[in-house]
Amino acid sequence: MNIKKLVVLSLLVIQTTTLVLTLRYSRSKPVEGARFLNSTVVLVAEFVKLICCLLVILKTNEFNTASALGEIRREVIHKPIETLKIAIPSGSYAIQNNLLFIALSYLDAPTYQVTYQLKILSSAIFSVVLLRRKLNFLKWVSLILLMAGVALVQIRPDDYEEKDPTLRWYGLGAILMSCVSSGFAGVYFEKLLKRSNQSLWIRNIQMALFGTVFSGMACYYSDMDIISRDGFFQGYDGLTWFIVLLHAVGGLLVSCVIKFADNITKGFAASLSIVISSAVSYFIFNELNPSHYFVIGTATVLLSTILYSRPG
Ligand code: C5P
Repeated sequence: MNIKKLVVLSLLVIQTTTLVLTLRYSRSKPVEGARFLNSTVVLVAEFVKLICCLLVILKTNEFNTASALGEIRREVIHKPIETLKIAIPSGSYAIQNNLLFIALSYLDAPTYQVTYQLKILSSAIFSVVLLRRKLNFLKWVSLILLMAGVALVQIRPDDYEEKDPTLRWYGLGAILMSCVSSGFAGVYFEKLLKRSNQSLWIRNIQMALFGTVFSGMACYYSDMDIISRDGFFQGYDGLTWFIVLLHAVGGLLVSCVIKFADNITKGFAASLSIVISSAVSYFIFNELNPSHYFVIGTATVLLSTILYSRPG
């Protein structure tokens, strides 16, 4: 494995684990007054990504502002069709980013992460359809194992006391929709990145531009009343800003992983972070008392991911 690939994958494992645990903690800790609004966090993160990408372009132009603006004009404004193509994955990600917050509010961190592994299945299906990628027998077997593992994780032991089953179903629904979006948007972005000659950072600028617009719309339609009453940054504290930064860095890391590897390898990184966040949840937060189903299901998901990642 080349060094760039290894570095971006390791960073993604660390970022995913930290984000899930921090989000979960921030959502469940008691707060005085209002909690932060998910939609504003997604919007601010998109804006932070845009600033980061602009800084990278500035750096690649040796901090010459005129030359950086020239590149953006040439590649973003004067190529409207290329820019518009990014609206598709970007819109899909905007919905997904909001849905994932809902999912995390209703599910514990390990259940969330293991179920979200179904995005490997949707990535595989979209890779076959959109990229004409061929999958061998072993890869399809691992995908079936993956689904079996995810199903096992969902079974609760007989003595499990459900706090509110309806809310759990909301969480599961939100996460399943996110899986479809993740596979579709990821593979579509991979196609645009690898089958055209625009640079990763120009693609990321286009992505963040649309991301800011779409997340702004989501914010407006879902929370405008509360925002006009209690303010855009209601409930923000140091932890919220940390989540915003983690979100933004994570998005940029995902784009690097898609460039230097692919969407399937990205799924492998996510499965490593499951092991880590489950362990932390269990040993540090005392949140999860794993049933046999959970342990076997998680092991099956991990095994399937390893099998899937074998070359050939
Ligand atoms: O879970 P998944 O890997 O699909 O999440 C991808 C995340 O990366 C999303 O939050 C999406 O907004 C972000 N992303 C990004 N820029 C890209 C590609 C993905 O910010 N070019």
